[in-house]
Amino acid sequence: MGYNGGMTKIVRAYAPATIGNVSCGFDVFGLAVERPGDEVEVTLRDEPGVVMLGIEGEFARSLPMEASKNTAGVAVSAFLAHTGIERGIGIRLFKHMPLGSGMGSSAASACAALWAANRIVGSPLTKEALLPFALQAEEVACGAGHADNAAPSLLGGFVLVRRTTPLDVVRLPVPEQVYWVLIHPDVVVNTAEARRRMKSEIRLSDAVAQMGNATSFLAGMLKGDIRRMGDSLEDVIAEPVRGPMIPCFDTARQAALAAGALGCGISGSGPSLFAMADGEVAAETIGASMGTVFSEAGIGWQLYVSKTNSEGARIVFEEGADEIL
Ligand code: HSE
Repeated sequence: MGYNGGMTKIVRAYAPATIGNVSCGFDVFGLAVERPGDEVEVTLRDEPGVVMLGIEGEFARSLPMEASKNTAGVAVSAFLAHTGIERGIGIRLFKHMPLGSGMGSSAASACAALWAANRIVGSPLTKEALLPFALQAEEVACGAGHADNAAPSLLGGFVLVRRTTPLDVVRLPVPEQVYWVLIHPDVVVNTAEARRRMKSEIRLSDAVAQMGNATSFLAGMLKGDIRRMGDSLEDVIAEPVRGPMIPCFDTARQAALAAGALGCGISGSGPSLFAMADGEVAAETIGASMGTVFSEAGIGWQLYVSKTNSEGARIVFEEGADEIL
């Protein structure tokens, strides 16, 4: 691919956190929230390849600086290899969300990096076409190329991942009044470990129950019936295995429901919990109740309340713009 080496010097992109699984859609449902999210700044380099120039932000600690081990670096390397662009890219990652949180932290870094890298070389690919590179990064981070974080982080909104090979995703609208509560207790649950603990086979009755909940959730969403959506947030596959890995899970979930949550479950592989609320005021009340549970157990937490993010990855800053020749 030709490239004019023109003006672009810096592009910075933001990609949002995501709630993977949404309880009833293991590896299939995911949705993006407004916050938190990661930012990635990219610059062009004459030398080919990808280099990490820096990792900053409140959660920068312990992230690998090698591009081959960092999801932002892996995703951009795959993108450059695919497009055949010969110049290199430098990456500066601004890590604003905790690692191993269940909020799609690794996917957000990869998606922000991809959207910025794509822009700095003249936007040759669509978001949909970039998604496979984010999945390659997820494989490095989590040991599996599931798309329920990367797809909503990149594309925005609620995304149904029908399958990953070949990739087939569908975006669906979330009713406007829905707010999402995301609470991250300060404990670490490694996604790869949380996946290893899952049984490789499930009972027929569990498959039927999960299918009932997943399809009912979708029906509620399409009909604007948020009570049906909330009632359908039941997970008979992952939650029984992963719930016990999260301190205070049952108590925090009960607190959320008692405070008016329409539904509540584990975000991704945990330890974050999410709750679904009818409006912002309800969401704030629910978040406070959940926070109290963790505080009383002596566990610190971060709370994020927001609507569904419908845009996904977005450019937040750029200096100049090159055009693909
Ligand atoms: N769907 C995956 C899992 C990743 O539950 O392991 C969620 O973040």
